Amino acid sequence: MTARLVLNRDLVKLLSSSPHVSRDWGRHGPAHEDKQDVPWYWAWSVETAGQNALNSYGDAHNRLRTPIVLALARRRVDAMEPVIEEIVSAALGALADGPSTVDLVPLYALTVAHQVVIRLLGMPAELLPAFHAAAAGLFATDASAEEMASSMQGIRDVLAELVALRRAQPGGDDLVSDLIREADKDVRPLTDEELRDQLLLVITAGVETTVHAIGTLLVDLMTHDEARSQATGSKEAMADALEESLRRQSPAAAVPTRFMIEDVTDPVSGVTLHAGERVILHLGAAGTDPDVHEAPDTFDITRDTSRQHLAFGHGPHFCPGAALARLEITTAVSRFFERFPTTRLTSTSLEPVEGFILTGHKSIPVQLAR
Ligand code: HEM
Repeated sequence: MTARLVLNRDLVKLLSSSPHVSRDWGRHGPAHEDKQDVPWYWAWSVETAGQNALNSYGDAHNRLRTPIVLALARRRVDAMEPVIEEIVSAALGALADGPSTVDLVPLYALTVAHQVVIRLLGMPAELLPAFHAAAAGLFATDASAEEMASSMQGIRDVLAELVALRRAQPGGDDLVSDLIREADKDVRPLTDEELRDQLLLVITAGVETTVHAIGTLLVDLMTHDEARSQATGSKEAMADALEESLRRQSPAAAVPTRFMIEDVTDPVSGVTLHAGERVILHLGAAGTDPDVHEAPDTFDITRDTSRQHLAFGHGPHFCPGAALARLEITTAVSRFFERFPTTRLTSTSLEPVEGFILTGHKSIPVQLAR
Protein backbone atom coordinates (compact mmCIF):
# COMPACT_ATOMS: atom_id res chain seq x y z
CA MET A 1 0.00 0.00 0.00
CA THR A 2 1.19 3.53 -0.66
CA ALA A 3 0.23 6.72 1.15
CA ARG A 4 1.28 10.31 0.84
CA LEU A 5 3.17 11.58 3.88
CA VAL A 6 2.37 15.18 4.80
CA LEU A 7 5.07 17.01 6.78
CA ASN A 8 4.23 20.70 6.39
CA ARG A 9 2.53 22.07 9.51
CA ASP A 10 -0.05 24.25 7.75
CA LEU A 11 -1.05 21.45 5.40
CA VAL A 12 -1.30 18.95 8.28
CA LYS A 13 -3.68 21.41 10.00
CA LEU A 14 -5.70 22.01 6.85
CA LEU A 15 -6.18 18.29 6.17
CA SER A 16 -6.82 17.41 9.86
CA SER A 17 -9.81 19.71 9.94
CA SER A 18 -11.09 19.16 6.41
CA PRO A 19 -14.47 17.42 5.91
CA HIS A 20 -12.96 16.03 2.70
CA VAL A 21 -10.61 13.77 4.67
CA SER A 22 -11.77 10.72 6.61
CA ARG A 23 -10.25 8.15 8.96
CA ASP A 24 -13.06 5.66 8.52
CA TRP A 25 -11.37 2.60 6.98
CA GLY A 26 -14.72 0.82 6.67
CA ARG A 27 -16.55 3.58 4.79
CA HIS A 28 -13.74 5.32 2.93
CA GLY A 29 -10.74 2.97 3.03
CA PRO A 30 -9.95 0.68 0.12
CA ALA A 31 -12.32 -2.29 0.11
CA HIS A 32 -9.68 -4.72 -1.15
CA GLU A 33 -6.97 -3.70 1.36
CA ASP A 34 -4.45 -6.47 1.79
CA LYS A 35 -3.91 -6.56 5.54
CA GLN A 36 -0.63 -8.48 5.13
CA ASP A 37 0.80 -5.37 3.50
CA VAL A 38 -0.18 -3.17 6.41
CA PRO A 39 1.11 -4.69 9.65
CA TRP A 40 -0.31 -1.94 11.84
CA TYR A 41 -3.71 -2.09 10.15
CA TRP A 42 -5.07 -4.47 12.78
CA ALA A 43 -4.60 -1.95 15.59
CA TRP A 44 -6.84 0.62 13.97
CA SER A 45 -9.31 -1.61 12.20
CA VAL A 46 -12.91 -2.01 13.20
CA GLU A 47 -12.34 -5.80 13.42
CA THR A 48 -9.83 -5.54 16.27
CA ALA A 49 -10.51 -2.19 17.95
CA GLY A 50 -14.23 -1.87 17.19
CA GLN A 51 -15.89 1.21 15.71
CA ASN A 52 -14.48 3.99 17.82
CA ALA A 53 -14.15 7.77 17.68
CA LEU A 54 -10.70 7.58 16.14
CA ASN A 55 -11.72 5.42 13.17
CA SER A 56 -15.03 7.17 12.47
CA TYR A 57 -16.12 10.11 10.35
CA GLY A 58 -18.76 12.84 10.37
CA ASP A 59 -21.95 12.37 12.40
CA ALA A 60 -20.93 8.85 13.43
CA HIS A 61 -17.70 10.31 14.84
CA ASN A 62 -19.57 13.04 16.75
CA ARG A 63 -21.90 10.53 18.33
CA LEU A 64 -19.01 8.35 19.57
CA ARG A 65 -16.73 11.24 20.56
CA THR A 66 -19.09 13.60 22.41
CA PRO A 67 -19.64 11.41 25.51
CA ILE A 68 -15.84 10.87 25.81
CA VAL A 69 -15.17 14.61 25.61
CA LEU A 70 -17.79 15.29 28.30
CA ALA A 71 -16.58 12.45 30.52
CA LEU A 72 -12.98 13.75 30.33
CA ALA A 73 -13.98 17.36 31.02
CA ARG A 74 -12.37 19.64 33.62
CA ARG A 75 -14.42 18.13 36.48
CA ARG A 76 -12.87 14.71 35.92
CA VAL A 77 -9.36 16.15 35.48
CA ASP A 78 -9.70 18.07 38.78
CA ALA A 79 -10.96 14.94 40.53
CA MET A 80 -7.92 13.04 39.24
CA GLU A 81 -5.40 15.56 40.59
CA PRO A 82 -5.08 14.13 44.14
CA VAL A 83 -5.28 10.60 42.71
CA ILE A 84 -2.34 11.29 40.38
CA GLU A 85 -0.33 12.76 43.28
CA GLU A 86 -1.03 9.60 45.29
CA ILE A 87 -0.03 7.29 42.40
CA VAL A 88 3.16 9.25 41.67
CA SER A 89 4.13 9.31 45.34
CA ALA A 90 3.69 5.51 45.60
CA ALA A 91 5.74 4.95 42.42
CA LEU A 92 8.53 7.18 43.76
CA GLY A 93 8.42 5.38 47.11
CA ALA A 94 8.87 2.06 45.30
CA LEU A 95 11.85 3.48 43.37
CA ALA A 96 13.41 4.78 46.59
CA ASP A 97 13.06 1.33 48.18
CA GLY A 98 14.58 -0.53 45.22
CA PRO A 99 17.99 -0.64 43.53
CA SER A 100 19.46 2.71 42.49
CA THR A 101 20.11 1.65 38.88
CA VAL A 102 16.77 1.31 37.12
CA ASP A 103 14.95 1.60 33.81
CA LEU A 104 12.45 4.43 34.22
CA VAL A 105 10.18 3.28 31.37
CA PRO A 106 8.66 0.19 33.05
CA LEU A 107 9.39 1.18 36.66
CA TYR A 108 8.12 4.74 36.57
CA ALA A 109 6.45 6.03 33.37
CA LEU A 110 4.45 2.88 32.67
CA THR A 111 3.61 2.28 36.34
CA VAL A 112 2.19 5.79 36.65
CA ALA A 113 0.26 5.75 33.34
CA HIS A 114 -1.12 2.29 34.03
CA GLN A 115 -2.29 3.14 37.56
CA VAL A 116 -3.85 6.40 36.37
CA VAL A 117 -5.98 4.65 33.77
CA ILE A 118 -7.06 1.99 36.30
CA ARG A 119 -8.20 4.68 38.74
CA LEU A 120 -9.73 6.80 35.96
CA LEU A 121 -11.87 3.89 34.87
CA GLY A 122 -12.66 2.96 38.48
CA MET A 123 -11.55 -0.62 37.75
CA PRO A 124 -12.82 -2.77 40.67
CA ALA A 125 -10.42 -5.14 42.45
CA GLU A 126 -12.11 -8.25 41.08
CA LEU A 127 -11.33 -7.25 37.46
CA LEU A 128 -7.73 -6.18 38.11
CA PRO A 129 -5.97 -9.55 37.60
CA ALA A 130 -7.57 -10.05 34.17
CA PHE A 131 -6.89 -6.41 33.26
CA HIS A 132 -3.23 -6.63 34.30
CA ALA A 133 -2.73 -9.86 32.36
CA ALA A 134 -4.20 -8.42 29.15
CA ALA A 135 -2.58 -4.98 29.56
CA ALA A 136 0.88 -6.53 30.03
CA GLY A 137 0.52 -8.09 26.56
CA LEU A 138 -0.87 -4.91 25.02
CA PHE A 139 2.09 -2.79 26.10
CA ALA A 140 4.81 -5.42 25.60
CA THR A 141 6.97 -3.94 22.88
CA ASP A 142 8.20 -7.35 21.72
CA ALA A 143 4.73 -8.91 21.31
CA SER A 144 3.71 -10.15 17.86
CA ALA A 145 0.64 -8.74 16.10
CA GLU A 146 -1.28 -11.95 17.00
CA GLU A 147 -0.29 -11.67 20.68
CA MET A 148 -1.33 -8.03 20.71
CA ALA A 149 -4.66 -8.84 19.05
CA SER A 150 -5.26 -11.46 21.72
CA SER A 151 -4.38 -8.97 24.50
CA MET A 152 -6.72 -6.45 22.88
CA GLN A 153 -9.52 -9.05 23.01
CA GLY A 154 -8.65 -9.73 26.67
CA ILE A 155 -9.03 -6.05 27.51
CA ARG A 156 -12.28 -5.82 25.54
CA ASP A 157 -13.66 -8.70 27.64
CA VAL A 158 -12.67 -6.95 30.90
CA LEU A 159 -14.18 -3.68 29.69
CA ALA A 160 -17.43 -5.42 28.74
CA GLU A 161 -17.67 -6.67 32.34
CA LEU A 162 -16.90 -3.20 33.65
CA VAL A 163 -19.68 -1.62 31.57
CA ALA A 164 -22.11 -4.31 32.78
CA LEU A 165 -21.14 -3.61 36.41
CA ARG A 166 -21.66 0.16 36.04
CA ARG A 167 -24.97 -0.39 34.26
CA ALA A 168 -26.09 -2.55 37.19
CA GLN A 169 -24.95 0.08 39.74
CA PRO A 170 -25.38 3.50 38.13
CA GLY A 171 -24.31 6.83 39.66
CA GLY A 172 -20.66 6.07 40.36
CA ASP A 173 -17.96 8.76 40.33
CA ASP A 174 -15.71 7.39 37.61
CA LEU A 175 -15.14 7.78 33.88
CA VAL A 176 -17.25 4.75 32.91
CA SER A 177 -20.29 5.95 34.89
CA ASP A 178 -19.88 9.45 33.36
CA LEU A 179 -19.55 7.99 29.88
CA ILE A 180 -22.75 5.97 30.26
CA ARG A 181 -24.59 8.99 31.71
CA GLU A 182 -23.48 11.29 28.87
CA ALA A 183 -24.12 8.71 26.15
CA ASP A 184 -27.63 8.04 27.49
CA LYS A 185 -28.55 11.72 26.90
CA ASP A 186 -28.25 11.21 23.12
CA VAL A 187 -31.32 10.33 21.06
CA ARG A 188 -29.29 7.32 19.93
CA PRO A 189 -27.48 6.24 23.14
CA LEU A 190 -24.34 4.16 22.68
CA THR A 191 -24.82 0.41 22.97
CA ASP A 192 -22.82 -1.49 25.59
CA GLU A 193 -20.50 -2.75 22.83
CA GLU A 194 -19.91 0.82 21.63
CA LEU A 195 -19.22 1.96 25.21
CA ARG A 196 -16.72 -0.89 25.60
CA ASP A 197 -14.93 0.08 22.39
CA GLN A 198 -14.69 3.77 23.36
CA LEU A 199 -13.12 2.69 26.67
CA LEU A 200 -10.66 0.52 24.77
CA LEU A 201 -9.79 3.60 22.69
CA VAL A 202 -9.18 5.61 25.87
CA ILE A 203 -6.66 2.93 26.92
CA THR A 204 -4.93 2.50 23.55
CA ALA A 205 -4.81 6.25 22.84
CA GLY A 206 -4.03 7.34 26.39
CA VAL A 207 -1.53 5.00 28.01
CA GLU A 208 1.43 4.43 25.70
CA THR A 209 1.42 8.04 24.47
CA THR A 210 1.60 9.26 28.07
CA VAL A 211 4.37 6.77 28.92
CA HIS A 212 6.51 8.17 26.09
CA ALA A 213 5.69 11.78 26.93
CA ILE A 214 6.78 11.24 30.57
CA GLY A 215 9.93 9.43 29.42
CA THR A 216 10.91 12.01 26.82
CA LEU A 217 10.45 14.93 29.22
CA LEU A 218 12.48 13.13 31.90
CA VAL A 219 15.31 12.60 29.41
CA ASP A 220 15.09 16.16 28.05
CA LEU A 221 15.45 17.55 31.56
CA MET A 222 18.18 15.11 32.60
CA THR A 223 20.21 16.24 29.60
CA HIS A 224 19.53 20.01 29.93
CA ASP A 225 20.70 21.17 33.36
CA GLU A 226 19.56 24.78 33.12
CA ALA A 227 16.08 23.86 31.91
CA ARG A 228 15.85 21.25 34.69
CA SER A 229 16.68 23.75 37.42
CA GLN A 230 14.18 26.24 35.96
CA ALA A 231 11.42 23.65 35.63
CA THR A 232 11.90 22.07 39.06
CA GLY A 233 10.02 24.21 41.51
CA SER A 234 8.13 26.31 38.94
CA LYS A 235 4.79 25.06 37.64
CA GLU A 236 4.91 27.52 34.73
CA ALA A 237 8.43 26.55 33.67
CA MET A 238 7.55 22.84 33.91
CA ALA A 239 4.49 23.47 31.71
CA ASP A 240 6.76 25.27 29.19
CA ALA A 241 9.22 22.37 29.32
CA LEU A 242 6.44 19.89 28.56
CA GLU A 243 5.20 21.86 25.54
CA GLU A 244 8.75 22.13 24.21
CA SER A 245 9.26 18.41 24.71
CA LEU A 246 5.96 17.58 22.96
CA ARG A 247 6.92 19.90 20.11
CA ARG A 248 10.35 18.40 19.61
CA GLN A 249 9.32 14.77 19.98
CA SER A 250 5.61 14.24 19.50
CA PRO A 251 4.72 10.93 21.27
CA ALA A 252 2.01 10.19 18.67
CA ALA A 253 4.16 11.00 15.67
CA ALA A 254 1.80 9.91 12.92
CA VAL A 255 -1.63 8.43 13.57
CA PRO A 256 -2.43 6.41 10.45
CA THR A 257 -4.16 6.70 7.95
CA ARG A 258 -6.64 9.08 6.38
CA PHE A 259 -8.49 8.89 3.10
CA MET A 260 -9.20 11.72 0.71
CA ILE A 261 -12.91 11.67 -0.09
CA GLU A 262 -12.82 14.85 -2.22
CA ASP A 263 -9.94 16.65 -3.95
CA VAL A 264 -8.16 19.23 -1.76
CA THR A 265 -5.57 21.68 -3.13
CA ASP A 266 -2.84 23.06 -0.90
CA PRO A 267 -3.16 26.85 -1.35
CA VAL A 268 0.59 27.34 -0.82
CA SER A 269 2.22 24.68 -3.01
CA GLY A 270 -0.70 24.24 -5.43
CA VAL A 271 -0.43 20.44 -5.03
CA THR A 272 -3.77 18.65 -5.25
CA LEU A 273 -4.52 15.60 -3.12
CA HIS A 274 -7.03 13.58 -5.06
CA ALA A 275 -10.13 11.74 -3.85
CA GLY A 276 -9.17 8.11 -3.15
CA GLU A 277 -5.59 8.91 -2.11
CA ARG A 278 -4.33 7.86 1.32
CA VAL A 279 -2.54 10.37 3.49
CA ILE A 280 -0.53 10.12 6.68
CA LEU A 281 -0.39 13.43 8.53
CA HIS A 282 2.92 13.63 10.36
CA LEU A 283 2.16 15.41 13.65
CA GLY A 284 5.77 14.99 14.75
CA ALA A 285 7.20 16.71 11.67
CA ALA A 286 4.75 19.57 12.13
CA GLY A 287 6.41 20.29 15.50
CA THR A 288 9.85 20.57 13.94
CA ASP A 289 8.83 22.45 10.78
CA PRO A 290 11.77 24.86 10.20
CA ASP A 291 9.39 27.43 8.68
CA VAL A 292 7.77 27.74 12.12
CA HIS A 293 10.50 26.91 14.64
CA GLU A 294 14.02 28.34 14.49
CA ALA A 295 16.67 25.66 15.14
CA PRO A 296 13.84 23.15 15.61
CA ASP A 297 16.02 20.38 17.09
CA THR A 298 17.21 22.56 19.97
CA PHE A 299 15.42 22.02 23.30
CA ASP A 300 14.66 25.53 24.52
CA ILE A 301 11.92 25.94 27.10
CA THR A 302 11.87 29.71 26.59
CA ARG A 303 11.16 29.66 22.83
CA ASP A 304 7.93 31.43 21.93
CA THR A 305 6.81 28.80 19.40
CA SER A 306 6.89 25.83 21.81
CA ARG A 307 3.09 25.64 21.93
CA GLN A 308 2.76 25.62 18.16
CA HIS A 309 2.91 21.84 17.95
CA LEU A 310 0.31 19.31 16.92
CA ALA A 311 1.17 16.59 19.44
CA PHE A 312 -2.50 16.29 20.43
CA GLY A 313 -3.73 16.56 16.86
CA HIS A 314 -5.96 19.21 15.37
CA GLY A 315 -9.56 19.47 14.24
CA PRO A 316 -12.42 17.08 14.98
CA HIS A 317 -10.19 14.29 16.39
CA PHE A 318 -8.21 16.62 18.71
CA CYS A 319 -7.19 14.57 21.76
CA PRO A 320 -9.91 14.79 24.44
CA GLY A 321 -7.38 13.55 27.03
CA ALA A 322 -4.93 16.45 26.54
CA ALA A 323 -5.68 18.23 29.83
CA LEU A 324 -5.46 15.02 31.83
CA ALA A 325 -2.25 14.02 30.04
CA ARG A 326 -0.64 17.41 30.74
CA LEU A 327 -1.52 17.15 34.44
CA GLU A 328 -0.24 13.57 34.66
CA ILE A 329 3.05 14.23 32.86
CA THR A 330 3.95 17.46 34.68
CA THR A 331 3.09 15.90 38.06
CA ALA A 332 5.12 12.75 37.36
CA VAL A 333 8.16 14.69 36.12
CA SER A 334 8.08 17.49 38.74
CA ARG A 335 7.79 15.08 41.65
CA PHE A 336 10.51 12.86 40.18
CA PHE A 337 13.08 15.66 40.13
CA GLU A 338 12.00 16.87 43.57
CA ARG A 339 12.78 13.39 44.91
CA PHE A 340 15.80 12.49 42.74
CA PRO A 341 17.16 15.86 41.55
CA THR A 342 20.58 14.77 40.33
CA THR A 343 19.61 11.52 38.60
CA ARG A 344 21.73 10.80 35.53
CA LEU A 345 21.34 8.59 32.48
CA THR A 346 23.71 5.62 32.52
CA SER A 347 23.76 5.37 28.74
CA THR A 348 24.59 8.07 26.22
CA SER A 349 22.59 6.49 23.40
CA LEU A 350 18.96 5.67 24.02
CA GLU A 351 17.16 3.32 21.66
CA PRO A 352 13.97 4.75 20.14
CA VAL A 353 10.71 2.77 20.11
CA GLU A 354 10.09 0.95 16.84
CA GLY A 355 7.69 1.93 14.08
CA PHE A 356 6.52 5.26 12.75
CA ILE A 357 3.36 5.72 14.82
CA LEU A 358 4.85 6.54 18.23
CA THR A 359 8.11 8.16 19.27
CA GLY A 360 9.79 7.71 22.59
CA HIS A 361 12.61 5.88 24.35
CA LYS A 362 12.48 2.10 24.58
CA SER A 363 14.27 2.21 27.90
CA ILE A 364 15.70 4.96 30.12
CA PRO A 365 18.49 3.48 32.26
CA VAL A 366 19.44 5.80 35.11
CA GLN A 367 21.34 6.03 38.35
CA LEU A 368 18.85 7.47 40.81
CA ALA A 369 20.33 10.22 42.95
CA ARG A 370 18.98 12.71 45.46
C1 HEM B 1 0.85 12.72 25.94
C2 HEM B 1 -0.24 11.98 25.89
C3 HEM B 1 -1.15 11.95 24.71
C4 HEM B 1 -0.90 12.28 23.41
C5 HEM B 1 0.41 12.77 22.79
C6 HEM B 1 -2.13 12.07 22.67
C7 HEM B 1 -2.28 12.32 21.32
C8 HEM B 1 -3.44 12.10 20.61
C9 HEM B 1 -3.56 12.29 19.19
C10 HEM B 1 -2.45 12.79 18.27
C11 HEM B 1 -4.82 11.95 18.84
C12 HEM B 1 -5.40 11.93 17.44
C13 HEM B 1 -5.67 13.34 16.97
C14 HEM B 1 -5.94 13.39 15.50
O1 HEM B 1 -6.03 12.38 14.86
O2 HEM B 1 -6.05 14.51 14.99
C15 HEM B 1 -5.50 11.54 20.04
C16 HEM B 1 -6.81 11.12 20.09
C17 HEM B 1 -7.40 10.64 21.22
N1 HEM B 1 -6.87 10.62 22.50
FE1 HEM B 1 -5.03 11.27 23.05
N2 HEM B 1 -3.09 11.63 23.53
C18 HEM B 1 -2.54 11.55 24.78
C19 HEM B 1 -3.17 11.18 25.96
C20 HEM B 1 -4.49 10.80 26.03
C21 HEM B 1 -5.17 10.45 27.25
C22 HEM B 1 -4.55 10.49 28.64
C23 HEM B 1 -6.43 10.06 26.89
C24 HEM B 1 -7.58 9.59 27.74
C25 HEM B 1 -7.56 9.41 29.02
C26 HEM B 1 -6.55 10.19 25.44
C27 HEM B 1 -7.68 9.89 24.70
C28 HEM B 1 -7.79 10.08 23.34
C29 HEM B 1 -8.98 9.70 22.57
C30 HEM B 1 -10.25 9.08 23.13
C31 HEM B 1 -8.73 10.07 21.23
C32 HEM B 1 -9.66 9.93 20.02
C33 HEM B 1 -10.41 11.23 19.75
C34 HEM B 1 -11.17 11.25 18.44
O3 HEM B 1 -10.82 10.50 17.52
O4 HEM B 1 -12.13 12.02 18.36
N3 HEM B 1 -5.36 10.64 24.95
N4 HEM B 1 -4.64 11.65 21.12
